[in-house]
Amino acid sequence: MSKVTVVGAGNVGATCANVLAYNEVADEIVMLDVKDGISEGKAMDMMQTAQLLGFDSTVVGCTGDYAKTAGSDVIIITSGIPRKPGMTREELIGVNAGIVRNVAESALKYSPQAILVVISNPMDTMTYLAYKSLGLPKNRVIGMGGALDSSRFKYYLTQALHCNANEVEGLVIGGHGDTTMIPLARLATYKGVPVSQLLNDTKLAEVIKATMVGGATLTGLLGTSAWYAPGAAGAYVAEAIIRNQRKQIPCSVALDGEYGESDICIGVPVILGKNGIEEIVKLDLNAEEKELFAKSAAAVRATNAVLKEIKAL
Ligand code: LAC
Repeated sequence: MSKVTVVGAGNVGATCANVLAYNEVADEIVMLDVKDGISEGKAMDMMQTAQLLGFDSTVVGCTGDYAKTAGSDVIIITSGIPRKPGMTREELIGVNAGIVRNVAESALKYSPQAILVVISNPMDTMTYLAYKSLGLPKNRVIGMGGALDSSRFKYYLTQALHCNANEVEGLVIGGHGDTTMIPLARLATYKGVPVSQLLNDTKLAEVIKATMVGGATLTGLLGTSAWYAPGAAGAYVAEAIIRNQRKQIPCSVALDGEYGESDICIGVPVILGKNGIEEIVKLDLNAEEKELFAKSAAAVRATNAVLKEIKAL
């Protein structure tokens, strides 16, 4: 039996659970929240779509009862406050650090073998906090930012190319921040053709810029953080693990010399399978991309330093 727990039944967590159920990624999906009744209500609502949508997964909701999450293969952490218009993801650190650590510790007590997928923001720093504080091997702590940012990159590419969303390839590495993410335009392709041959420099620069502020654009429109793509990205990462798909997905992972960085969690492409991170993929970056990656790492490191200042680590 496969089981996934989603902690936090807000917009992102509930969307994630819904996608997991609809795609029958696990036999059982547990949603846990601190707000009385929210998870139970959303789980019941989802279960009432089972016949309409034709899925067999069971969705269970609970309020703070970690015993119900016992034996999970994957634990997805979405807890914490989302950003409001004008806020950066980094400004959430003080509140979310305490929540993420507490949630991860509580969930791991009941599922000591689980693989953690972190969605809470600032995502790279929350992943780093989980990695440094929980004593898990690095293959079991994964931040989902790159999956989301790459999906947004492909969205903006398809808009520029007027093409089908499933026919472009592209990846975003670096931090999951408005100024730290690195959409790798050089490696993006449409049906095997480099997009640099199909879009001029100005258009490509627009796509890159739109991708980087993709989350902020939605926060401006919605008044809170986005949830459909973040929730689906979390489910996409969990699916690769549960089904041992060995998909290559950019995720925030602990680096130990790869890409010239150590003691940091930041986005790079990894192979995801039943053990979580099966392999870190080493891309041959050019000089400009290497420089952007080093700058991105420095910015993520500066946010990580706040964890020590506020004694969260
Ligand atoms: C976003 C938030 C979830 O990028 O980080 O929409």
